[in-house]
Amino acid sequence: MTDLWWKSAVVYQIYPRSFADADGDGMGDLRGIIEHLDHLAGLGVDVLWLSPIYPSPQDDNGYDISDYQNIEPIFGTLEIFDELLAGVHARGMKLIMDLVVNHSSDEHPWFADSRSSLSSDKRDWYWWRPAREGMEPGTPGAEPTNWGSAFGGSAWEYDEKTGEYYLHLFSKKQPDLNWENDEVRSAVYDMMNWWLDRGVDGFRMDVINMISKDVSLPDGRLTAGSSYGDGSPAYINGPRIHEFLQEMHAKVFAGRDAMLTVGEMPGVTVDEAKLFTDPARGEVDMVFQFDHVWADRGDDPWQLVPLQLTKLKAIFNRWQAGLAEVGWNSLYWNNHDQPRAVSRYGDDSPQFRVASAKMIGTVLHLHRGTPYVYQGEELGMTNYPFRTIADFRDIEALGHYAQAVDREGRTPEEVLTVLRARGRDNARTPMQWNSSANAGFTTGTPWLAANPNYPEINAAAQHDDPDSVYHYYRRLIELRHNEPAVVDGDFTMLLPNDERLYAFTRRLGSTELLVIGNFSGDSVTADIDGWSDAELVLTNLPAPSGLTLAPWQSVIYRRTV
Ligand code: GLC
Repeated sequence: MTDLWWKSAVVYQIYPRSFADADGDGMGDLRGIIEHLDHLAGLGVDVLWLSPIYPSPQDDNGYDISDYQNIEPIFGTLEIFDELLAGVHARGMKLIMDLVVNHSSDEHPWFADSRSSLSSDKRDWYWWRPAREGMEPGTPGAEPTNWGSAFGGSAWEYDEKTGEYYLHLFSKKQPDLNWENDEVRSAVYDMMNWWLDRGVDGFRMDVINMISKDVSLPDGRLTAGSSYGDGSPAYINGPRIHEFLQEMHAKVFAGRDAMLTVGEMPGVTVDEAKLFTDPARGEVDMVFQFDHVWADRGDDPWQLVPLQLTKLKAIFNRWQAGLAEVGWNSLYWNNHDQPRAVSRYGDDSPQFRVASAKMIGTVLHLHRGTPYVYQGEELGMTNYPFRTIADFRDIEALGHYAQAVDREGRTPEEVLTVLRARGRDNARTPMQWNSSANAGFTTGTPWLAANPNYPEINAAAQHDDPDSVYHYYRRLIELRHNEPAVVDGDFTMLLPNDERLYAFTRRLGSTELLVIGNFSGDSVTADIDGWSDAELVLTNLPAPSGLTLAPWQSVIYRRTV
């Protein structure tokens, strides 16, 4: 295997807070992960990605870090972490950490120092600015720019002590680090090297395409219906982003073997991704793009638009074609920020949940790129039946609700409809291990309620059932490991105008695979020639006759050409 080992790998994301609670405090922990490593090894995944486990006030569930070189006491200790890492490596898997360095927590000592005085050594480590020219600091509209934050409200927080504002693209407890400052960058690289020296195998990099900002910090365009401007042109893929990532690569990854780096990059384009992931440029191995998870929203991110399969296919096709020669895709339906895939792309009704969960898994995993499985996806876990805003815990949901209902005059029901479909807490309900209380996640009171469907949908039941979503995902992963055409084959989209069938081929040398997924509750015949003698490699339902697929059926055929 070459140094591009991750081309044939599958990554599994753990959201530690919701994975498994070993000590009964209602929050998942590292010991809980250790106890469930065989579930992951049994699935056959190659890499585990842990959402942040560092000390944190938990304002954004750990994406607000107050100490980059330790473990949050709720989750465990460095000793338990080392034990976990050894357990992962002993099973032949790797482990990557979440790197959250666009911002720290406001409780990080760096920020405490920075805010302490205008002359602090660390003042320049964050983005401090005076009030807008001619305005009284701290009064409405005096913020240095009109930017809104991702979680509602202004992106600037006034700090009385020094009479200036600091920038926070996310919550006010997540001040943005100033990457223009050389000391900030070397402190981050030192910290990364410290984790790699400890044995971790790479990083998933949180909103990493936001670290370089246009230092003139221009006002953003006002979007209809919103009280804030869109500052993103000034901080998405900013002027020095490639330089920073190349420097990071040189100072941290160069000369290390078998690492994995994946950059989370909202708003990244195919052309930019080609630059980010060209191995010759030494930036990152792959990126998380957002086009496909934004396909069912309007210009206003909180507007729901029905998902069109043709649009989804056009997006994936563009990414597959764009990175065919240079660079590499990551593939995902789900993560801790997205609603549950089966509820969004499949049909989570009792009749079709299992079939559609397997079908969407098939379509995704057979693309060219590295697939990511988010905890519970391998069980076909579904969205949660939220009733009122009191059922939500996520800072994004609460912040959006406050802004939309209290300040922009939307009705609670209208806002709740969107949050039920898109809210991040859908992904964050406890992992469903078995049919005992709280899905076997905790013996205490879970920080977020378990989905009431856990008596039917849980890991224990699926481990024993060869027809389960779990075992089907295991087969998909095995196929990637054993069939080179899945890894390296070229990609050709078929039937681009069909609103029900997702069909494509993968070809490597004389091996060709045909993949078809039926994204509908109808039986549909695919009009594709030449496959009547092909071998059926995998299907989620009884073998079809020819290319007539039952509702939510998927097929993978192989032929020699
Ligand atoms: C990323 C994370 C998300 C977090 C945000 C701010 O998008 O995935 O969970 O809220 O960055 O760190």
